[in-house]
Amino acid sequence: MNAQQIRNAYIKYFQDRGHSEIPRAPLVLKDDPTTLFTGSGMQPLLPYLLGEAHPKGNRLVDSQTCLRAQDIEEIGDNRHTTFFEMLGNWSLGDYFKKDQLPWIWEFLTDVVGLDPKKLYVTCYIGNEACGIPKDLESPEIWKELFKDRGIDAAAADLGSEQEAFKRGMKPGERIFFYGGKPNWWCRGGKIEDMPIGEPGGPSSEVFYEFDFVEHDSSYGEFCHPNCDCGRYMEIGNSVFMEYVRTENGFEKLPAQNVDFGGGLERIAAAKLNKPDVFKISLLWPIIEKLQTLSGKNYEAHTNAMRVIADHLRAATFLAVDGCVPSNKEQGYVMRRLLRRAIRFAFELGIEQNFLQEIVPVIADLYADDFPEVAGQREQIIAVLVKEEKAFRQTLRNGIRELDKRIEQMLVGTPLKNGQEEFVDGELKKDVHGDIVFLMYDTYGFPLELTLEEVFKRSDARMYTNWRSEFDGKMEEQKLRSQTATKGVFKGGLGGQTLQHKKYHTATHLMYQALRDVLGSHVVQHGSNITEERLRFDFSHPEKMTDEQKKQVEDIVNEQIAKDLQVSFAEYPT
Ligand code: ALA
Repeated sequence: MNAQQIRNAYIKYFQDRGHSEIPRAPLVLKDDPTTLFTGSGMQPLLPYLLGEAHPKGNRLVDSQTCLRAQDIEEIGDNRHTTFFEMLGNWSLGDYFKKDQLPWIWEFLTDVVGLDPKKLYVTCYIGNEACGIPKDLESPEIWKELFKDRGIDAAAADLGSEQEAFKRGMKPGERIFFYGGKPNWWCRGGKIEDMPIGEPGGPSSEVFYEFDFVEHDSSYGEFCHPNCDCGRYMEIGNSVFMEYVRTENGFEKLPAQNVDFGGGLERIAAAKLNKPDVFKISLLWPIIEKLQTLSGKNYEAHTNAMRVIADHLRAATFLAVDGCVPSNKEQGYVMRRLLRRAIRFAFELGIEQNFLQEIVPVIADLYADDFPEVAGQREQIIAVLVKEEKAFRQTLRNGIRELDKRIEQMLVGTPLKNGQEEFVDGELKKDVHGDIVFLMYDTYGFPLELTLEEVFKRSDARMYTNWRSEFDGKMEEQKLRSQTATKGVFKGGLGGQTLQHKKYHTATHLMYQALRDVLGSHVVQHGSNITEERLRFDFSHPEKMTDEQKKQVEDIVNEQIAKDLQVSFAEYPT
């Protein structure tokens, strides 16, 4: 069973159990100004988890495309990707633990065919301060499920993650409670940070063991499911979403919900019994193409090939969902993904335009299941190639800038031991870390590229401590960007004051007015609302004229002046 087959089998399995399939939501959620991207299956379903009726009923199944941009710099290990599919099944106040866990178990073991002996689970230990009890039911259900397969599964409390590294897992233990990583799921991650009105709940995760991977003790003395060494990989998470944070602490939601999220790429890797998601059928063909284009081998260039494959898959789906590279918000992330992919391609010796070679491979992989990718192949290629060309021009400009800076430098600075230093009988100019950072940050130069350019010159060399100077600059920039994004797009609900609501309604009025005045090609790319103002990004090839702006303004004001009743109704899609 390859990844595509696993996805389809999952949908069918839950359809056979009364679930309606719903389409994936786009990566950029139009009506959610609080977050940049769809990062989990539950975000688009939030209103229904809070109690609104879903037009397709109270059992749903989907495969939600997700993008988690927080970890761009981390991509390159065996399991993380910025873009991934999350298989989801949903009970909106219908079934609960005693159906959910046996179904997921049956799907993973009988349908996908994973060996039950390689599965381990975690359950929620409770949170006294928040008044939420330990989950006693899930471990009992798991015990029975293991027992059916002849496995005597013991439960154990591993304490905090730190303590777990000291204690390790004892023979026979398969069901674990963690103190430090407490199996609680909500948007934003932490129970303490949940805003009023935010739902969340205890979760139970399933891990697959690659038993031939030796534990890497640089992570900690003993291995355990939440250790990141690669021996265990989380493949599914059943969230029992039954709480909401209120002014009085935590209360039960009107109904008990299930939000299951399973990483399709990871389940497929477990099925292959290969501890590397890039080996699966939805990623390996991209790697193969990179091998052909570069004449290099994945084993020798694992990191670069993983980054390129991941980033181009993400950028392709962003393009499908209407995103274009820019200097702001989603567009900025898309630009970063593309530029990183192109920079890493340099490492492989791919210096010519190559995106038009990769996008068709990706489109083919999704042709049957997400036909919108293949359907927009030409437009996607146009958007990505335009950015690639512009970036390559930037690289050329960067080389000119570097040359200029070196020309302007003084020879032999700083002095070593108070002496100008001669190298090979010649005076050399020292290139410091700040220049390497400028090249990296402004011109997108990978470090090796700057080093190579410097190496080519007979009059310059790298200053001995350039690396620590560069790292210092990187650290400063990281702090700056953390400060800049804080508050704007933190997870969770945005403001809910009356002023927010007014601006939100006005945003919808303006969107329609823009379409009326400029045409139906106008598509929302971003929206950001604070108490002071609304901001709205949309696509339109030209600058708006004053007259058009006035027309839009008049339409919006006319509608506001009507003081219409606001109501809403559900329509079938
Ligand atoms: N919403 C849960 C997750 O993202 C299933 O892990």
